[in-house]
Amino acid sequence: MSPEDIRARLLGWYDAHARDLPWRTGPAAGQAGLRSDPYRVWLSEVMLQQTTVPHATPYFLKFTARWPTVSDLAAAEDGEVMAAWAGLGYYARARNLLACARAVAAEHGGAFPDTEAGLLKLPGLGPYTAAAVAAIAFDRPTNVVDGNVERVMSRLFAVEEPLPGGKPELKRLAAGLVREDRPGDWAQALMDLGATVCRPKGPLCDRCPLAEACAGLATGAPETYPRKSAKPERPHRHGAAFILMRGNEVGLVRRPPKGLLGGMLALPTTDWRGLGWDEAEALAAAPAAADWRCVGEVEHGFTHFTLTLRLWRAEGEADGLIWTPRRELDALPSVFLKAARAGLSNLL
Ligand code: ADE
Repeated sequence: MSPEDIRARLLGWYDAHARDLPWRTGPAAGQAGLRSDPYRVWLSEVMLQQTTVPHATPYFLKFTARWPTVSDLAAAEDGEVMAAWAGLGYYARARNLLACARAVAAEHGGAFPDTEAGLLKLPGLGPYTAAAVAAIAFDRPTNVVDGNVERVMSRLFAVEEPLPGGKPELKRLAAGLVREDRPGDWAQALMDLGATVCRPKGPLCDRCPLAEACAGLATGAPETYPRKSAKPERPHRHGAAFILMRGNEVGLVRRPPKGLLGGMLALPTTDWRGLGWDEAEALAAAPAAADWRCVGEVEHGFTHFTLTLRLWRAEGEADGLIWTPRRELDALPSVFLKAARAGLSNLL
């Protein structure tokens, strides 16, 4: 099948099946020359780089209700934005988000540059986001390649070279299908196909507009693409977390600005290391001398390691903690929210 046929089929499918998402104007509006708001496109793309549409959508609605324009976001306090980001992960992205919003507000009068090259000059805005915003908000014919698009290309062309080494080849194949016509819809059509039909596990090939053209399907095992190099196991670490209660409040700390979960609120913990902690060793790192009781454990997966946190709870007082009512713990990053909920679950 020619590239033109592939494009016609996928764009036709998108016209009928595009997901209705809050940052989209939709294919019909796009054809009529209506563009999505670049701020909303940019914000959605940053959020979607780390999570799925269903998980990101409530965050997107919360952010745009609270900060309707990039200038509103630029004027927000760092701490407020970090707290609103809690649960999305990768907190460095929230900091980059603010740096970028502030540059757009201060240096571009609140309007995003309308080319890929112009967008790339903004602080904290990388090549993927520049390509996506240029295509979706400004209809520039850029090559937008995320994990969905890589998977679609690897199957469509039955690419045998495993990831991550095969990425440049997948990008080259994707570039071969980009045209001046409807670039924003093209990028989003590929993403929607990847998310809803050409799914990582259990692709729905009988609903796929590209089934006839798909070399992966012709092999009989499309789900085995993209091929992957054997991955080293993530290391496992151990730590202890301390839930110090003062009435209905919990004593939190702010993590150092650099590094994992930098600048975020947290439960006080020991270091996280390969070796487990015995009781005396763990309690030496507690924020106060108190009657500590072990109240369970939680597991959490980070990108580069997994973590077991043993939970200790006590009533007490200590200087230098950020005393936070229990009902306001939602602003904690997921690992600490999980730990706090588990550690407090048997307390009424
Ligand atoms: N994933 C990343 N960006 C997306 C978009 N604009 N639409 C749907 N899924 C996406």
